[in-house]
Amino acid sequence: MGFLGSPSMASSSSSSSSSSSLSSASLYGAAFLLWVLVLNGAAVCNGGSTSPFVRKVEKSVDMPLDSDVFGVPPGYNAPQQVHITQGDHVGKAVIVSWVTQDEPGSDVVLYWSKNSEEKKEAKGKHLTYKFYNYTSGYIHHCTIRNLKFDTKYYYEVGIGQTVRRFWFVTPPEVGPDVPHTFGLIGDLGQTFDSNSTLTHYEHNPHKGQTLLFVGDLSYADHYPNYDNVRWDTWGRFTERSVAYQPWIWTAGNHEIDLAPEIGEKIPFKPYLCRYHTPNKASGSTSPLWYSIKRASAYIIVLSSYSAYAKYTPQYRWLEEELPKVNRSETPWLIVLMHSPWYNSYNYHYMEGETMRVMYEPWFVKYRVDVVFAGHVHAYERSERVSNIAYNIVNGLCTPVQDQSAPVYITIGDGGNIEGLAINMTEPQPKYSAFREASFGHAIFGIKNRTHAYYSWHRNQDGYAVEGDSLWFYNRYWHPIDESTSA
Ligand SMILES: *[C@@H]1O[C@H](CO)[C@@H](O)[C@H](O)[C@H]1NC(C)=O
Ligand SMILES: *[C@@H]1O[C@H](CO)[C@@H](O)[C@H](O)[C@H]1NC(C)=O
Ligand SMILES: *[C@@H]1O[C@H](CO)[C@@H](O)[C@H](O)[C@H]1NC(C)=O
Ligand SMILES: *[C@@H]1O[C@H](CO)[C@@H](O)[C@H](O)[C@H]1NC(C)=O
Ligand SMILES: *[C@@H]1O[C@H](CO)[C@@H](O)[C@H](O)[C@H]1NC(C)=O
Ligand SMILES: [Fe+2]
Repeated sequence: MGFLGSPSMASSSSSSSSSSSLSSASLYGAAFLLWVLVLNGAAVCNGGSTSPFVRKVEKSVDMPLDSDVFGVPPGYNAPQQVHITQGDHVGKAVIVSWVTQDEPGSDVVLYWSKNSEEKKEAKGKHLTYKFYNYTSGYIHHCTIRNLKFDTKYYYEVGIGQTVRRFWFVTPPEVGPDVPHTFGLIGDLGQTFDSNSTLTHYEHNPHKGQTLLFVGDLSYADHYPNYDNVRWDTWGRFTERSVAYQPWIWTAGNHEIDLAPEIGEKIPFKPYLCRYHTPNKASGSTSPLWYSIKRASAYIIVLSSYSAYAKYTPQYRWLEEELPKVNRSETPWLIVLMHSPWYNSYNYHYMEGETMRVMYEPWFVKYRVDVVFAGHVHAYERSERVSNIAYNIVNGLCTPVQDQSAPVYITIGDGGNIEGLAINMTEPQPKYSAFREASFGHAIFGIKNRTHAYYSWHRNQDGYAVEGDSLWFYNRYWHPIDESTSA
């Protein structure tokens, strides 16, 4: 029986509605028979579940320009859009970025650890860019190096004019049993729903320490002439989180910003000017793909919209990168990309297929624990499956259960202006463990080398409610089956 085409038998809503409609006693036998068939089907087909909740389609609306979350900080030339990300391969450096609107001001960051009064100084650089008739403010990037692990630091930007102070906590030294809690957000945009997603992430009692962002940031390209003012508003909106904890960036299609019709021919220009990554530290020649180690995790970021075929720079980099991952040092191997490989919604259907064909055998060989993607504006979690037996003559092209394969999670439900993806392929493919069209975010909480607790949180619920959750068992240290639809 085909794995992909088998019907989902796990929908509790369909089985309960069929038994309640058969209320007559004479029909009891038929109802019982149906029930048995359903159970049998579940055992044979091993299908996942589609949440019975069907959300009514409401257009997500961008927050207006005069919204509180877009407010410009007071003071002459005050630094705005402050954001941080990891600045090296192991977590001892931080890239601090900010924008000054009136004049360049200072490129210096002052920083000091919680237990020391001595302020240190790091000097960065600034740049500006133009996009059609938009000219950016002065975008500053400054890397602070040689930080101590597991330490709270305060930092100040805007030295000399309006000074603003923030803080962050460095991660613990890389090691196999170091706990760390990652948040996950994708396709955020700047609607009222985006604000709700960020608020839920901030209030989540699991307390994310580092955010893994799976692409599609501002959706400025939705506006006439890709109005880059909406990149600035997005920077101000997200500052309340990303100035205090690193967001690890992945580029999505809304970062491409290619508009030859208005003379904009350089892909990714606004994104690359505004958001830096530590790509050189992992030997990558492009900020669009790179890796970091953080606590007990090794995180590989890929670019769905850069060349990935054989002989391309991304291919060569990934080919050399995967064998470098030492699971005795970093047990958890996590991959981020924008376009999902396993997606059973009728949106962006099979867009990730060509990259899957190129790289999936490596993910199985190197036992990637989990792949997070966005792009589809909904939530979906797969079982551990692979589809790597195919070659041009054998015709074997069906996903099969594979305990060496990653779990694939689509978390493109950040709440952007394009609204929810509610149209799903039917029946639900067997590899799809759970899917629901709701906005939300997720948490991947690593406890030690064997266990990580994962939960997905929809915006409609209270901050502590988990819409989907499971324990992940590490593929290298504890590769036992954790499938939920068996
Ligand atoms: C850019 O051009 C558009 C129309 O093409 C206009 O509405 C807008 O005001 C201009 N913006 C700037 C900063 O000149
Ligand atoms: C965004 O959410 C915050 C709460 O986290 C709230 O204070 C603010 O008013 C919201 N802004 C908008 C425009 O909804
Ligand atoms: C892998 O990491 C462990 C623990 O840090 C270390 O002892 C070992 O030498 C590393 N192996 C390689 C091949 O670097
Ligand atoms: C859902 O998507 C399928 C495939 O693209 C399409 O045929 C169908 O009309 C869509 N259904 C709705 C309700 O939009
Ligand atoms: C790893 O964490 C899990 C979950 O907290 C716990 O049950 C298990 O005992 C831990 N393993 C070790 C070796 O401490
Ligand atoms: Fe996307």
